[in-house]
Amino acid sequence: MKLLAAMILAAGLLSAVHIVHAADPDPLQDFCIADIAAGPVSNGFPCKLPALASTDDFAFSGLAEAADPSVSATNGTATLAFVRQWPALNTQGLSLIRLDINPGGVVNPHTHNLATEILYVLEGEMYTGFVTNNFGNDPTISNKLYAKVVKKGEAFIFPRGLLHFQLNKGKVLASSLNVLNSQNPGIQLMPLALFGSGIDREMLEKSFFMNATQVAALENIFQ
Ligand SMILES: *[C@@H]1O[C@H](CO)[C@@H](O)[C@H](O)[C@H]1NC(C)=O
Ligand SMILES: *[C@@H]1O[C@H](CO)[C@@H](O)[C@H](O)[C@H]1NC(C)=O
Repeated sequence: MKLLAAMILAAGLLSAVHIVHAADPDPLQDFCIADIAAGPVSNGFPCKLPALASTDDFAFSGLAEAADPSVSATNGTATLAFVRQWPALNTQGLSLIRLDINPGGVVNPHTHNLATEILYVLEGEMYTGFVTNNFGNDPTISNKLYAKVVKKGEAFIFPRGLLHFQLNKGKVLASSLNVLNSQNPGIQLMPLALFGSGIDREMLEKSFFMNATQVAALENIFQ
C-alpha cells in the first residue's frame, strides 16, 4: 500500500513538473515591465520599478500596419511583438507575430523551440503546415506533413518546436496574426541557420548533395 501511495505521489510530482515546463514560468507579481537595457538575466529581463509603469507600457501599436513584404528576399515579412519589442510581455508567457506575404512569397521553414503557435489569417490565404519529428515518439507519424491552405478567418496550430512554413498561393496580400505561448519564442529560419551562419562549406555540400557553386549561391542570399 505504501509503495502504491509512493508511486502515485511520484507520478503526480512528475506530471506537476511536466506542467511547469510546458510554458514560460508563472509570474510572481502582477507585472514586470522589462528593463531591456539592463540585459537578459537567466530567464527573462529584470523589472523596471513598478511605480514607473504607465498605461502606454501595456499598449503596443507595432502590428497595426502591414509591413512591406518586398523588403524581404522571399517576399514575406514577419513583424515581431516579443519581449524586446514590447517589454510588458516580460513574465507573461505570451507574444505575437504579424505575417505579411505577397502573392507567391514565403516565410522560410522555421522553428520556435520555446513556444507553441496559433496562426489566424486576417486577410488572403496561406498554404501552411508543419512536419513532425523525423524519429518521434510514435513511428506511425514520423516525418509526417500536416499542411493546407488556411483562409481569412481560419486558424492553424503549430505544435511547439516543430518545423513550419507559409506560402501565399493567393492573388492578394496575405496577412496573419500569430499568438505564441512564450515571451521569447525563439526563431530559427532554416536557410539562414544553414547557409547564413558560416558552416564549413564541405558540411553543406555533403549534407545537401550540392556542389560548391550551388552552396555559394545560397550563401550569397543568406549571409
Ligand atoms: C514580390 O512580390 C511583388 C508583388 O507581388 C512582385 O511584384 C515581386 O516581383 C516579388 N519579388 C520577388 C523577388 O519575387
Ligand atoms: C554544380 O551543379 C550544377 C547543377 O548540376 C551544374 O550546372 C554546375 O556545372 C556544377 N558546378 C560545378 C563547379 O561543378
